[in-house]
Amino acid sequence: MITKTYIAISRSILILAAVFAAQAVSAQDDVEQGRLLAYTCMGCHGIDGYRNAYPSYRVPKLGGQKGAYIKAALIAYRDGQRPHPTMQAQGGSLSDADIDNLTAWFEALQPPASDNLDGDDVAGFAPATLCVTCHGVAGTGVAPQPPVLSGQHEDYLVHALQQYRDGKRTGNIMAAFAATLSDSDIATLAAFYAKQGGLFTPEKDQ
Ligand code: HEC
Ligand code: HEC
Repeated sequence: MITKTYIAISRSILILAAVFAAQAVSAQDDVEQGRLLAYTCMGCHGIDGYRNAYPSYRVPKLGGQKGAYIKAALIAYRDGQRPHPTMQAQGGSLSDADIDNLTAWFEALQPPASDNLDGDDVAGFAPATLCVTCHGVAGTGVAPQPPVLSGQHEDYLVHALQQYRDGKRTGNIMAAFAATLSDSDIATLAAFYAKQGGLFTPEKDQ
């Protein structure tokens, strides 16, 4: 009886181990597929300080960004909820599986920086108190979806906030929070998040 139970338990452990091993291999496969797909993306996102031609602002840093947000952004371009001809074309050619693989690769680059800023740094900084709930004190974001803002290019953050305020990015909750921001609030917020450590430009041949 005891032996039978023992065999049954050992067998279950073996099966479980096999399942986990298979999952680990498939996760590695996803990252590898994502790395291959990301080759094109790195032509812009892998060059530090690379600029969008018009209007001129730096291409967003994706290293350290949350997978859930990268995925949501790619789907928003594909569905036309975010305007940008090149990114819509990039998104449009991706299947759901491609998007998952790309997300896995970007996510594997490095975990987001920890939210290590002292709360006092933002004390009295009125516009940011509204943002802390979702983006964290320094802009590292709280799980799972709100994007990491810390260390992002300042001019890109200005551009993104203007897009939400002006109703150009639809289908998300940011429009409501950006609606009342003045140009000078936007400039202050963008400068604040940009100077925190966090996001980085991935190596082109990583
Ligand atoms: C020709 C240059 C170029 C290429 C190639 C390119 N991107 Fe982009 N990407 C941009 C620009 C510019 C933006 C900002 C667009 C905007 O204003 O919304 C952007 C935005 C993004 C965003 C949103 C980031 C954020 O913080 O909101 C993601 C995610 C992204 N790109 C992923 C990719 C992936 C994945 C690929 C490859 C399949 C790719 N990009 C290829 C230029 C490029
Ligand atoms: C209730 C949660 C919430 C609050 C509060 C909030 N955000 Fe967001 N924010 C989000 C989410 C979710 C997204 C992703 C939306 C999307 O998919 O476009 C986002 C996106 C952004 C982006 C775009 C980042 C990128 O890479 O393109 C910026 C910039 C931003 N928020 C800044 C702010 C600022 C500044 C405030 C305060 C005035 C704020 N947010 C308040 C949840 C929030």
